[in-house]
Amino acid sequence: MQGQGKQIQWFPGHMAKTRRLMREHLRLVDAVVELRDARIVRSSRNPEIERLTRGKPRVVLLNKCDMADESATRAWGAFLSEKGLPTLAVDCRSGKGLNRFEPLLREACAEKLARNAARGMQGAPLRLMIVGIPNVGKSSFINRMAGARRAKVEDRPGVTRGTQWVKLSDGMELLDMPGVLWPKFEDPHVGRNLAYTGAIRDQIMDTEDLACTLLPLLAQRYPQALAERYRLTEEELAVPDGWELLCAVAKRRGMLVRGGEADTLRASAAVLDEFRAGRIGRISLERPEDDDETDG
Ligand code: G4P
Repeated sequence: MQGQGKQIQWFPGHMAKTRRLMREHLRLVDAVVELRDARIVRSSRNPEIERLTRGKPRVVLLNKCDMADESATRAWGAFLSEKGLPTLAVDCRSGKGLNRFEPLLREACAEKLARNAARGMQGAPLRLMIVGIPNVGKSSFINRMAGARRAKVEDRPGVTRGTQWVKLSDGMELLDMPGVLWPKFEDPHVGRNLAYTGAIRDQIMDTEDLACTLLPLLAQRYPQALAERYRLTEEELAVPDGWELLCAVAKRRGMLVRGGEADTLRASAAVLDEFRAGRIGRISLERPEDDDETDG
């Protein structure tokens, strides 16, 4: 997929720059914190993360868990933990779950902490790099963790201009750099998931097309939530056709154009807005068991 979004800009040059920045800065940190969107855990993953982080301890945060289906988030937590990735569900907007971050990080960095202790450096802070796709909540995480105490650490060598260290709660320091990673754009399924959740902008994809693929998905996985939100009948829900579902939504909302036809453009914008705002319900579009593509 090609195009430019509000948050995501698809420039190969940006990717090369991020790779270089990460390579340069990885040696300065003890661990990598990878943020993913709990609603689309697989699609919000950078396919190169494993290679890019080259064996550094990594902790995965499933962010925006307030908007995701709790059972799916639990399943993802178990799935990723089993793959050796310490995983935590969080809501960086409210701060929920973040109190468990430090213990999890300490566990992931046990070797480093033991080495520090052996050298008599028990008090040395754990240094972190945070990475994730645009709009996944990186700034929200940093702001939450640094809070009002947000303080810049003294300038240190080896850090690129525009990048700085931020003190988190005791014992942690975060490298505040643009750790933007790209998802697997070229996969149309991933592209649609990113568009549904608002990580990429509508202009890249046709709003009606998006709503027409999202609605049957919701009808299949979350029929009750969809039916309640748009007062759809059982017969309407049973039709696996996105266009018909969209017309039903438009009619129920009184969104009509002259002649009484469904105003599908307005209805599709409403469906996407409401989905993104979490108004249809707590919904996860991916579950670990959906396919067996390796993930880590
Ligand atoms: P980024 O740095 O990775 O690009 O993401 P950022 O923190 O800017 O977050 C992107 C949007 O996601 C923001 O909303 C932010 O409030 C929201 N967000 C972050 N974490 C969570 C979360 O855990 N739950 C929910 N529900 N939302 C979250 P925005 O609409 O762009 O801004 P605003 O409405 O907060 O001003």
